[in-house]
Amino acid sequence: MVPARRLRSRGDDSPRGTLRTILSGRAWLGGRLQSVEIAIDEDGRIASVGKIRTGAPREEFGERVILPSATDLHVHLREPGGPAEAETIPSGTAGAAVGGVGLVGEMPNTLPPVVTLDALHDKAARVAGRAAVDVLLYASPTVARERGALARAAGGFKVYLSPTTGIADAPELAEVPGLLRELASLQLPVAVHAEDPRRFAGRDAPKTPVDWNRHRPARAEEAAVDALLDGPEALRLHVAHVTTAGEVERLRSRGVSFEATPHHLLLSDRSGDDARTKVNPPLRPEPERARLWAAFRRGEIPILASDHAPHPANEKAWPFDRAPSGVPGVETMVPLMLARVRAQELDLATLLLTACERPARWLGQPIGRIAPGHRANLLVVDFRRRAKVEARRLHSPCGWSPFEGWEAIFPEVHYRDGVRIVDGGEWVGSPTGRVVRPEFAFSERPAGSPERGS
Ligand code: NCD
Ligand code: ZN
Repeated sequence: MVPARRLRSRGDDSPRGTLRTILSGRAWLGGRLQSVEIAIDEDGRIASVGKIRTGAPREEFGERVILPSATDLHVHLREPGGPAEAETIPSGTAGAAVGGVGLVGEMPNTLPPVVTLDALHDKAARVAGRAAVDVLLYASPTVARERGALARAAGGFKVYLSPTTGIADAPELAEVPGLLRELASLQLPVAVHAEDPRRFAGRDAPKTPVDWNRHRPARAEEAAVDALLDGPEALRLHVAHVTTAGEVERLRSRGVSFEATPHHLLLSDRSGDDARTKVNPPLRPEPERARLWAAFRRGEIPILASDHAPHPANEKAWPFDRAPSGVPGVETMVPLMLARVRAQELDLATLLLTACERPARWLGQPIGRIAPGHRANLLVVDFRRRAKVEARRLHSPCGWSPFEGWEAIFPEVHYRDGVRIVDGGEWVGSPTGRVVRPEFAFSERPAGSPERGS
């Protein structure tokens, strides 16, 4: 059965409990930035918003902006199996915390991959006591007899329709409908890496990101998405890293959840000429990138996710065709977009829906909105505090970023359950992040959520 338990209401109908703290600042509520007070109870939940409450210590943020912390539903933290020079659970989750991400969805393509209950338990044990933020663990459903047990213990499934890092082979597209039917009955969220390897062009060894785009063209994404669109109604489907405006249109018209990444939104196949910007699916030519960004700005892309996929710098320096695919991004995703908001190229409302509210809802988590009953996972942002991305200051040991030198606004404070885990832009918490699973079905709304946030 679904792990669908209704949230305890901590809103107006609950007796007034003791408050831990009251935050005062500006927040995006009712379609505008307005001054508010957010009362946080002793369990770290938001008790009330907008009412003047006394009886607890106050933290005054004046003109600074209080936002919900973000959910990044697509990261690769490289445990178990490493390489630890690329990332670990402590480093990746510390980067998430500093970048304003309070929950990460950790993918199963590790060494070994998470295809059994034992492997899932092993990964959960690695999170305990070592993670700066909460972690939802995906499993890969490639071992049929393990699926039922995994569905009761994992946070989601990830299906790879093409080979990529750690994934040597993928199911035949003909097997996909049956797999989707079974996964629908298991009721966990299902994210899909949608590229059809039969559409890859078998040309000479690719030497640049331009070649890589020709080798794994957009029509390979289209063909894989074709195989998904007639999946069962009950499937909680999400298509990872969509790269073209055409696919945005098609998935939107079918009501399927999907994400775009900061690298596909901001970089093209000419942003670099070595294997550092080799990624699956590939970066697309500039006109396609510009169309994707325009669709994002218009609010047509439901979810922003980083596909944080760090590799050791020395491996990214290998000859292009042998180098691994993937770029880091969990720590820079929100700061880059906050800088776009400041530059008036992106509406704050769009960022809040795509980075905070919708990914949390897709994963069934009571976070991502400033509303009573939600966990007080919150950020404080000073839009005057501009910075540049500098890889040497990021937490990933991989040591580089495709966004080096880009303008960014890092949150000043990050609260997890009402407790500061980032202060002055530095991680000050202890590793209290835990493994979470969906708490309510996609269609359900957490208690105290009056409006449907589209
Ligand atoms: C990812 C990785 O390195 O784990 N690489 C990538 O190019 N995106 C795997 C994946 O998500 O395809
Ligand atoms: Zn990925």
